[in-house]
Amino acid sequence: MRIIQISDTHLSPGKAHFADNWPPLARWIAAQRPDLVIHTGDVTVDAADVEEDLRYAAELMRGLGVRFRAVPGNHDVGDAGHNHQPVNDQRLQRWHTHFGPDRWVEDVEDSRLIGFDAMLLGSGEREEARQADWLDAVMNDAAGRRISWFLHRPLFLDSPDEADTGYWSVKPQPRARLLELARRYSVGLVASGHLHRAHDFLNDGTRYIWAPATAFLVGEMAPPMPGENRLGAVLYEIDGRTLEAGIIEVPGLSRHWIDDVAEEVYPRRPDSQSAPPLGLRNR
Ligand SMILES: [Fe+2]
Ligand SMILES: [Fe+2]
Repeated sequence: MRIIQISDTHLSPGKAHFADNWPPLARWIAAQRPDLVIHTGDVTVDAADVEEDLRYAAELMRGLGVRFRAVPGNHDVGDAGHNHQPVNDQRLQRWHTHFGPDRWVEDVEDSRLIGFDAMLLGSGEREEARQADWLDAVMNDAAGRRISWFLHRPLFLDSPDEADTGYWSVKPQPRARLLELARRYSVGLVASGHLHRAHDFLNDGTRYIWAPATAFLVGEMAPPMPGENRLGAVLYEIDGRTLEAGIIEVPGLSRHWIDDVAEEVYPRRPDSQSAPPLGLRNR
């Protein structure tokens, strides 16, 4: 079984800054003949406010002609505790309308792939508690299958016990709970997006893969962190309990930098003059 993970496509009919990377990505996916495509979020430029972005991106995803699953990113459904775009029932409902559930299970041979919504973590929303119960349940009834997680935001940047990194990784409290769960069930893989960097490393017996974006790279707007400034995708081959993975260069992608167009794509809000764009710090 062949699976392709893509991430951070940042698609929008209104802001087409990264639209030229979709056709080469779609062509490459078709050539790989995958059984499933997993999108780890920031499918859209700004569906947290613009529903049309979600409708448009869902249509492009369906146009791949391959079955797909997706988990939302901060630009798709908002974020926990965000001043302007908090994740809430209304935003989640829009995701459900266009993309289906924001958490899901795929059993592939002797592997169980679990996708869940990292934007809910630390939000205090009712859905956060429901998702936590659901995650416990689907871990518990995995019946010995090897477990892989797919979520938008990475659990940590440098180390599992690092302090709050703000925008960039899961908050320490929900992170600790997830790491405990990962340890208890020997989770084999945690695959994420969000950072627009490529990275593949082992920690405490779990493999962590940061899927590169296909839309753009982030320059000096991001703090120093591990990984490489690359665009691309991740190719997985699952055979029984064995999962092989590799971060792959996708031919024809233009190396856009968000730093060059941030004010157009993610303009600063009037009440956060001193904050950088991208909505990174305006909370
Ligand atoms: Fe992104
Ligand atoms: Fe993101």
